[in-house]
Amino acid sequence: MGESITDPRGTWGSKLAFIFAASGSAIGLGSMWRFPLMVGKNGGAVFVFTYIISVFFIGFTIMLAELTLGRRTQKNPVGVFQTIKPGSSWKYAGYVALVTCVCILSYYGVIAGWAFGYFYKTIGGMFRGNITWDISDTIFKNFASNPLEIVFCIFIIMAITTFVISKGVQGGIERWSKILMPVLFALILFLAIRAITLGGAQTGISYYLLPDLSKMDPNVFFFGVGQAFYSLSLGMGIMMTYGSYIGKRDNLVTSAGWVCFSTTLVAFLTGIIIFPALFATPGINPGEFEVSTGLMFQVFPIVISKIPGGYLFGILFFFLLLVAALTSTISLLEVPVAYFIDEKRWPRKKAALLVGIVTFALAIPSGLSVGGVKFLTNWKFLISMDLVFGNIMLAVGGLIVCVFLVYLWRTQNALQEISLGSRGFKLKSLWVFNIKFLAPVVIIIILFFKIFNAIS
Ligand code: TRP
Repeated sequence: MGESITDPRGTWGSKLAFIFAASGSAIGLGSMWRFPLMVGKNGGAVFVFTYIISVFFIGFTIMLAELTLGRRTQKNPVGVFQTIKPGSSWKYAGYVALVTCVCILSYYGVIAGWAFGYFYKTIGGMFRGNITWDISDTIFKNFASNPLEIVFCIFIIMAITTFVISKGVQGGIERWSKILMPVLFALILFLAIRAITLGGAQTGISYYLLPDLSKMDPNVFFFGVGQAFYSLSLGMGIMMTYGSYIGKRDNLVTSAGWVCFSTTLVAFLTGIIIFPALFATPGINPGEFEVSTGLMFQVFPIVISKIPGGYLFGILFFFLLLVAALTSTISLLEVPVAYFIDEKRWPRKKAALLVGIVTFALAIPSGLSVGGVKFLTNWKFLISMDLVFGNIMLAVGGLIVCVFLVYLWRTQNALQEISLGSRGFKLKSLWVFNIKFLAPVVIIIILFFKIFNAIS
């Protein structure tokens, strides 16, 4: 994001600036915390492949749709619907998106808080020496169930996010993320190489890459498609807003392609680190092992402790994770804040502060959902928030985008807008087929399955 998010409306400096900003929103805890968690809970390699296929056929399709709608209307999500169908009740879809963003941010802030906690714990030397599974597991559990420390960490995350948004997302963050994102990428690549060369990594690699088809069930699809939406920041109008700042002559197709590719690559490599390292740990076997919400926080310290210079490496890693998380929290807060500024004419500071405080309050039950408060134990609250808002509502949002684009705006208009910057759109007929049939049908099926499952 740049100053262009605020008035006066501008465009990204270059196509590359857009790709960095959109990847900054996309790459975050979704790829590095949620993805391995989903893999662990949904049968390993079958999930990995379902996710990649979902990104290609559904994620890319909807990303291009959102960017196109945004660039044509030059508006935020509520404005997109109002411009194309003035006076209709489509604008309520925009309101639902605002609420969903706040709800996602509330528990996302908790995980980002963990990243912050791990950052200062690494500086404090908590992960020095030979970190075994037991040590790492104990550190995580003690930390995650300490109510005061958790609330403090969430507070810091929300305070930074609110502060940045209240300043109008100045160029700083964008400039920094341009430098830091490639560094994060290099670090992940390096850790991946270290992880696959650990003794006993083989089990983890097979678990991660060799699909066991008996593990395939409707849940794998449901969460695979959901993860594609989540990791690409889709279904909530974020990409519409970003699309509205892309220049008319820029190529929407390759831009969307790059964002999908870089995000998937980061998620894929994170898995390459986690699973070999996890199953190389004595006494931990796939199948017998119950994946916990803190998976990534339990495994990374082990890998880092096995690297020369691990102390500094660890600090750098958790710092970058924090930055990646913050570029995503910022994009989540910007959506509701932009709404209050655009539609209610509130000053930016007031909007940021109000939404920030509400989100912080909403984050507390998620943060305390391990230990502390009894009825919330086992992360039930956090996991339910993630299921409802991070999976179901994003899929609903994606469906709305398909229906709106195909039946109200019409595919020809979208294709015309896309063609402004990209002459030969090779996958044109595939995209049309996907947006008209494949994506909506798949989304409807998985939603029905989930609702049916919940009732029966
Ligand atoms: N995609 C981000 C991540 O993977 C999270 C995120 C940011 C998001 N904005 C979103 C998810 C909008 C859904 C909708 O960390």
